Amino acid sequence: MEALLEIDNIEVVYNKAVQVLRGLSLRVPEGAIVALLGSNGAGKSTTLKSVSGLLTLEDGEVTAGEVRFRGQDVKGIPPEKLVRNGLFHVMEGRRVFEDLTVEENLIAATYALSGRKPSLSDSYELVYNYFPRLKERRKQLAGYLSGGEQQMLALGRALIAQPDLIMLDEPSLGLAPLLVEEIFTIVARINREQGTAILLVEQNAAVSLAIASYGYIMENGKIVIDGPTEKLTANEDVQEFYLGVGGAEGETRSYRDIKHYKRRKRWLS
Ligand SMILES: Nc1ncnc2c1ncn2[C@@H]1O[C@H](COP(=O)(O)OP(=O)(O)OP(=O)(O)O)[C@@H](O)[C@H]1O
Ligand SMILES: [Mg+2]
Repeated sequence: MEALLEIDNIEVVYNKAVQVLRGLSLRVPEGAIVALLGSNGAGKSTTLKSVSGLLTLEDGEVTAGEVRFRGQDVKGIPPEKLVRNGLFHVMEGRRVFEDLTVEENLIAATYALSGRKPSLSDSYELVYNYFPRLKERRKQLAGYLSGGEQQMLALGRALIAQPDLIMLDEPSLGLAPLLVEEIFTIVARINREQGTAILLVEQNAAVSLAIASYGYIMENGKIVIDGPTEKLTANEDVQEFYLGVGGAEGETRSYRDIKHYKRRKRWLS
């Protein structure tokens, strides 16, 4: 069956010189939460940018393969048109307008939506229902929000557009564990209650796999392992290198160094 988002064997090159994606494929079915995991520099953000059309702003190009949203090739479709079609990309690093208030940030997110624009007051309520803290702070400048609140606002900006697919780039980055849990719980609720599909890009495998139904792990520009969450979490390599099972507290990060080689060897052999 055709999935909502289909990335089919894409290759991406920056500056006509540096190849970053090397035949990457993944699918996000309608209404699903799919996790895309991988360490620094694996190409996760590049993958999202090649879907949303932001790649061209960075002199990047999809040189092979195809990305389809609702069966339609996204090539050449401007990013704002994709937003109108129901695809919203929440970029890495909580991009909000710091000099605008919370509410103005939400309004700004609806500008791209002419034709599809939901009633504004209903949409505010929708956002504030999931993020009561944003309601309390709606007249405050976004620049004064805490990191967690800014991440909530970035999510709120996606939600107000009422998309069918939200691509979330590392929402846990730099946030305390409790806050990460709070935000991921809300993401799962949005998915469940609004039917919004989520493509969740993360380095934090444990929290992502806790809410996703399917996961992909990428390394060096391509997927090295994928499967339904239960299967992935039962996989020994995934446990050892991404979930830190069996290791001492805080050892999860060691997959970046010594174990890196061992893992690659096992997966690729
Ligand atoms: N605009 C660019 N021009 C040239 N190279 C780039 C550009 N953006 C990213 N890269 C390179 O592409 C590779 C993948 O980067 P990308 O940001 O997609 O990784 P990532 O998996 O999102 O990493 P992180 O977890 O650190 O966010 C890196 O080697 C990076 O240096
Ligand atoms: Mg990234």
